[in-house]
Order: sequence, then C-alpha cells, then structure tokens
Amino acid sequence: MKIAVIPGDGTGPEVTDEALKVLAAAASLHGFTYELTPLDWGSQRYLRTGEIIPDGGVKLLKGHDAIFLGAVGHPDVTPGLIEKGLLLQLRFQLDQYINLRPVKLYPGVETPLAGKGPSDIDFVVVRENTEDLYAGIGGFLKKGTPDEVATQTAIYSRKGCERWLRWAFRFTQKRNNPKGKKLTLVAKNNVLTFGHDLIWRTFQEIAGDYPDVQPDYNHVDACCMWMVKNPEYYDVIATTNMFGDIITDLGAIIQGGMGVAAGGNINPDPGGTSMYEPMGGSAPKYTGQGVINPMAAIGAMAMLLEHTGQPAAGQRVMTAIQRVTGTRMKSQAAGKMGFSTSEVGDLVVEAMAGSPAGV
Ligand code: IPM
Ligand code: MN
Repeated sequence: MKIAVIPGDGTGPEVTDEALKVLAAAASLHGFTYELTPLDWGSQRYLRTGEIIPDGGVKLLKGHDAIFLGAVGHPDVTPGLIEKGLLLQLRFQLDQYINLRPVKLYPGVETPLAGKGPSDIDFVVVRENTEDLYAGIGGFLKKGTPDEVATQTAIYSRKGCERWLRWAFRFTQKRNNPKGKKLTLVAKNNVLTFGHDLIWRTFQEIAGDYPDVQPDYNHVDACCMWMVKNPEYYDVIATTNMFGDIITDLGAIIQGGMGVAAGGNINPDPGGTSMYEPMGGSAPKYTGQGVINPMAAIGAMAMLLEHTGQPAAGQRVMTAIQRVTGTRMKSQAAGKMGFSTSEVGDLVVEAMAGSPAGV
C-alpha cells in the first residue's frame, strides 16, 4: 500500500505521528506492507517558497493508493489560503466526489445532547464534495465601489448528482444497519427550486434500483433540529457540499467534538486516490505541547484502512479506539484526556493487540 502523508501545520504532525503508529501496528497484526511518502506541504513551505502544491504534486499523489492529511492552517498565513489551496484543490483535482463523515458517539465520550448515548448517535453523512457553492464560480462587478455586486453560483450537474447519490445508496446497502437501511436526502428543494430539483429528481429516479433502501427526505433546516432532538432517526444522510460542511460540524459536536471526528475525501472510481483527515484544524495554540487529541487522526487512519483494501485492520482500529475511549480516557478535550497525545496513541496500539477484528 503506497500512502502519501501530509502532516501539515500546527498540531497536524503530532496527530499524524499517532495515526502512523497505529498503521504500523495494523500492518504487523494483519500482515500487509506499506510504503510512506512524507510531503512537507503546508504553510511553512508556502512561507518559504510561495508554493502551496508544488509542480507535479497532483501527479505524484495519483501514484499513491491513499493520502493521509494531518491539518493545515497557520496564523502567519491569510486565513483560508492554505485550506483552499491545498485541501479544496486536492478534493477537486483528484475528483474526490464523496466526503464521508461518520457521526458516531464512542463509548465513554460525552455528548452535549441530554439523555443520548452511543446507540442513539450513530449515522454517516455522505457529503457531495466537488460541486455546489464550492465550485468557485462567481465574480465581482464594480468592485470596491458603493455599487458593488458579487455573485457566488452553486452548480449541480446530472452526472455529479448521480454518481454521488448512487454511491450513497450503495453505501447504505453495505452499511446494512440492523435498525433498517434508510437514506435521507438533506436539501432545500422548497426554495432552491432549480438545483435541488435536479438533485431531488435524480434521487427519485435512481431510488428504485436499490429496493432494500428506504428513501427519505428532510429539508436541511429541519435536519438541524432532528440531529439534536432525535439523532437516532438517521442511518445515512446524503447532502450537498455546503449543507454538508455545516451539518457535519453539528455532527462533530454531538459525537464529542473535533478531537474525535474524522472524514474521508473519496474518489471511488477505479484508480482513484482518496484522502483521509481528522475534521478539526491545525489548533496552532496547542502546537508542540503533546496535549492534542489524536483520536480523530487515528479514526481517519481506520477509515483509510477500511477503504484501501484492509477492512479487517480498519475494523480492529475502530474497536480499539472505542475500548480506549470507553475504559481509559477521562475526556476528549485537548489537555484533559488524562494522557498525552503520544500516550493515547500507545493505548490504541495496546488495545489493538487484544482486539480481534469485529469484537
Ligand atoms: C471541512 C472544512 C473545509 C470545507 C474548509 C477548511 C475549506 O471546513 O473540511 O469541512 O469547507 O470543506
Ligand atoms: Mn467544515
């Protein structure tokens, strides 16, 4: 398995180290080999060279089976510059059209939702990752004058809708939730009567090809209420890029925060290269202190393994994570875990040795 590793900025390298520790343990327990390509892309390199993705960088990544990204963003660089120049660029250039974000409350982890536990908070958001308001279409007229006009256009293509929604249906089938297979489309077709009408029609047209999946629909504003009041309602949610960005932060907080939330930017096509990352940012204020929570990064590594031909190893890591949150850690907040960053990584490795896959 060839993995490109971009530790990035701030606490990115610290959490990446722990994810790599877990990868090494998984490889020895499951008998696979891997090769890492460390890449120094991020703010430091940008400040030095003025370049975010070096020439030929995308081609280099395409030669890998997967990418692991720590975090990017630095106080000395204009906010958003590296995030857009690296993260969004790679999502687009590698056509990673699925952003997969599990919202799962691990045992022992505190949620702000009163009366809800791990069996209530366990769903997955399938966020479209290449279209919508993120396409970068728009412009200014009379910029800087009192008459200025700005446009920012959301685009949706039939092909883009179909490939994302078909993937979501198949994912729901495979997830095989014992409570029932349900795919909830989250959009706003009562107001976005062109773009979201296309999405809605596509959803209805293809739903019949997946008869074992219950097709369902929520407006995004209602979904925000249900995620807080009745998160157990959801199995899999398919949503657009912008709405997905917003509701997955809500998802992250109900699953215990940025210390645990992980995601995958997936190009599921043959030969596609996918990228896995903790959802949180580079948390510059905690850099170098050994207090940041590596669980989100370790969860991202579990996803990488699961989707890159080592599902049993990925399952073993997930099981070990839950054993550690359930029995060892005091909290998931930076500095309050009861352990250092590196000790949390060690605990997961230790739990893996005693955790056969699927237990
Ligand atoms: C995310 C982030 C990114 C996004 C930013 C950093 C560009 O918020 O991965 O959710 O908006 O997608
Ligand atoms: Mn976001």
